[in-house]
Amino acid sequence: MTKKRIFFTGGSGKAGKHVIPYLLDQGHKVLNVDLMPFDHPGVNNLVADITDSGQMFNAMSSYAGLDELESGTGVPKFDAVVHFAAVPRILLKPDNETFRVNTMGTYNVIEAAVKLGIRKIIIASSETTYGICFSDGQTNPTVLPLEEDYNVDPMDSYGLSKVVNEQTARSFQRRSGFDMYALRIGNVIEPHEYAELFPSYFTNPELRRRNAFCYIDARDLGQIVDLCLQKDGLGYQIFNAGNDQNGAILPSLGLVERFFPGVPLTRELGEHEALFSNRKIREVLGFREHHNWQKYVTWES
Ligand SMILES: NC(=O)c1ccc[n+]([C@@H]2O[C@H](COP(=O)([O-])OP(=O)(O)OC[C@H]3O[C@@H](n4cnc5c(N)ncnc54)[C@H](O)[C@@H]3O)[C@@H](O)[C@H]2O)c1
Repeated sequence: MTKKRIFFTGGSGKAGKHVIPYLLDQGHKVLNVDLMPFDHPGVNNLVADITDSGQMFNAMSSYAGLDELESGTGVPKFDAVVHFAAVPRILLKPDNETFRVNTMGTYNVIEAAVKLGIRKIIIASSETTYGICFSDGQTNPTVLPLEEDYNVDPMDSYGLSKVVNEQTARSFQRRSGFDMYALRIGNVIEPHEYAELFPSYFTNPELRRRNAFCYIDARDLGQIVDLCLQKDGLGYQIFNAGNDQNGAILPSLGLVERFFPGVPLTRELGEHEALFSNRKIREVLGFREHHNWQKYVTWES
């Protein structure tokens, strides 16, 4: 496995706090670039704003820590960019600000990376691109399971910003030929949240309809990012980042009948196979989940 020097944006947030330690455990070096530092052993922090292009060019051509002064050979180059910084949903900021920060921030990060010759760029997209999560009223997907070739059509500023970001990555990939992988991340679950949240999801499964019952363990997300770092040469790719099963007790077909009646299935589903499909990361990247919810919540149905 190759150890990489990684420029990581947004690492102080919910997902980054677990993904960065996973990457450090694999032996990578990480510079966390965020509006606030992540106080964790082995993490170097640089406070910078992704919406400022000059700061992104500057930070991406900078030392990652004081230790790098020692060799006397100048600033090393980053091997990869992992871009997680964002306004992470609607209704935290006005819609136009969510759209501006997410789209301009992503443009600035990708442009700086490409122009500085960093050939692996991984960006956080979202399950919300599928258009169910933040829709006005209850909307159905056109087909299930949700897979990467779906014609995404969100109606909210956050989901739209992520669709635009995927297109930005695709456009820069065409120009550069570099690898750009967009992770459509499912609802991120931290270790302590299983006990806190899942019992209520099981009692009231309708709480999870807007997420199509998906979840991604924050540590398994670390594995997915690492697999993306290791796998070169795929060009532009979209990957759903979710766990193998639904975060639900009902079997998959029961969920479809009750919550998405009439929605056609494009293929057979395993008994509890996630409606937010992770088939592509399993087949293309070799993802094997380590943190299924059943390890952390016991439930008698
Ligand atoms: N949490 C989820 O369930 C979920 C689901 C799908 C996709 N995502 C995406 O995954 C990524 C990480 O999500 P999260 O839940 O950790 O979000 P978070 O809000 O907890 O973390 C985002 C981080 O980005 C930083 N940030 C925001 N604006 C910035 C700016 N202008 N410049 C620099 N840093 C800035 C914040 O300080 C924060 O530390 C985001 O892109 C989010 O849209 C999250």
